[in-house]
Amino acid sequence: MVFDTFDANLEYAKQLDREDTLKNFREEFYLQPGSIYMDGNSLGLLSKRAEKTLLESLEDWKQYGIDGWMQGKHPWFYMADELGRKLAPLVGGSPEEVIVTGSTTVNLHQLVSTFYKPDGIRTKILADELNFPSDIYALQSQLRLHGFDPDTHLIRVKSRNGRFLDEEDIIESMTDEVALIVLPTILYRSGQILDIKRLTEEAHHRGIVIGWDACHSVGAIPHSFSKWDVDFAFWCNYKHLNGGPGGVGGLFVNRRHFGRMPGLAGWFSSKKEKQFDMEHKLTPADSAGVFQIGTPHVLSSAPLMGSLEIFAEAGIENIRRKSLRINQYLMNLIDHELAGMGFFIGTPREDARRGGHVSLEHPEAARICKSLKENGIVPDFRAPNIIRLAPVALYTSYEEVWKVVQVLKKIMTEKQYEKFKNERDVVA
Ligand SMILES: Cc1ncc(COP(=O)(O)O)c(C=O)c1O
Repeated sequence: MVFDTFDANLEYAKQLDREDTLKNFREEFYLQPGSIYMDGNSLGLLSKRAEKTLLESLEDWKQYGIDGWMQGKHPWFYMADELGRKLAPLVGGSPEEVIVTGSTTVNLHQLVSTFYKPDGIRTKILADELNFPSDIYALQSQLRLHGFDPDTHLIRVKSRNGRFLDEEDIIESMTDEVALIVLPTILYRSGQILDIKRLTEEAHHRGIVIGWDACHSVGAIPHSFSKWDVDFAFWCNYKHLNGGPGGVGGLFVNRRHFGRMPGLAGWFSSKKEKQFDMEHKLTPADSAGVFQIGTPHVLSSAPLMGSLEIFAEAGIENIRRKSLRINQYLMNLIDHELAGMGFFIGTPREDARRGGHVSLEHPEAARICKSLKENGIVPDFRAPNIIRLAPVALYTSYEEVWKVVQVLKKIMTEKQYEKFKNERDVVA
């Protein structure tokens, strides 16, 4: 998609807002007056519908007590499956292939416990050096559990420039020593999208199982996990899907793998009709539901019920279209307004290779972020030098993006950032 018209004036931003077909969804969210939220790729905002479904579950608890498991507005016993069904179109899975359960890191442990089967010389796990630390820690600990040294058995594909990964380098690392590959769909710092389809095909040609961390892509871009024959994927629902802080995560497992015992089993891995037979022999669910472990975290799942309604109404293709456009607009403004101020856009420029945020690099990034906060803008800092800015399709306006860049310009020209230390707080 090429946006050949660009104008740095406020009137142009207002015109883009008027043309925005998703603009009415903004009213669904709790936006704070005097504040511009640019951090929806880290923690999405609360919507009125998410609040409503959370309150409905509290009401069910109030009215039904234990009977809320089978009665009420959203019976808790089936909530994870129901949410899986609603989420399936966003990842391109069939309803049985998706379940809302666990957290990103717990789901990764579950899936590695299930799919990592070292055999003969195939004992290594392939990841990358730009991967999110929690995933790396999980992979290292799984290797240790199998008696392997992570220093020799976790291969981390190198980045050529510290920002992006090259698919060719990943493919070159898919040797016959590799048993499992875990990669991000979108890199959390630069926002680069990896070629999921191609890398999945290349892994399968070599007999390697491949799984994807989709934290930064779910709710931001469309996926076709079933069609691409992805083995498994896992993600959190609190970023682009606005499921709430610490909200329950999700996972996809290709139906080819149904019938496998979960690496980490619990009574919620059971076939639903059998669970309360209380037998000591597990009858596994014949769906992704088998990868659940224990009692679901109902109150941390309930907001997602309302949030996913919004995604169904807005349509992920429309969300992606606006996301590309508003992120492009942000990059154009940065190029135009902040030239010569030491900024560098560390996000791929091509549409097919960029996700839902812009990574703005600057040596003074930590204190520029503090200055942005002081000016009522909520950015996200990633050490040592990245300001992540996420204009979100459902609730960010073009006018807000315009204001953010104007504030950045003022912060730089007036050197407002100099009154802060250039170091991060405990939470970035
Ligand atoms: C890409 C990625 N992977 C993994 C995680 C860890 O997620 P959780 O803390 O929910 O397990 C995060 C958290 O932000 C993330 O961004």
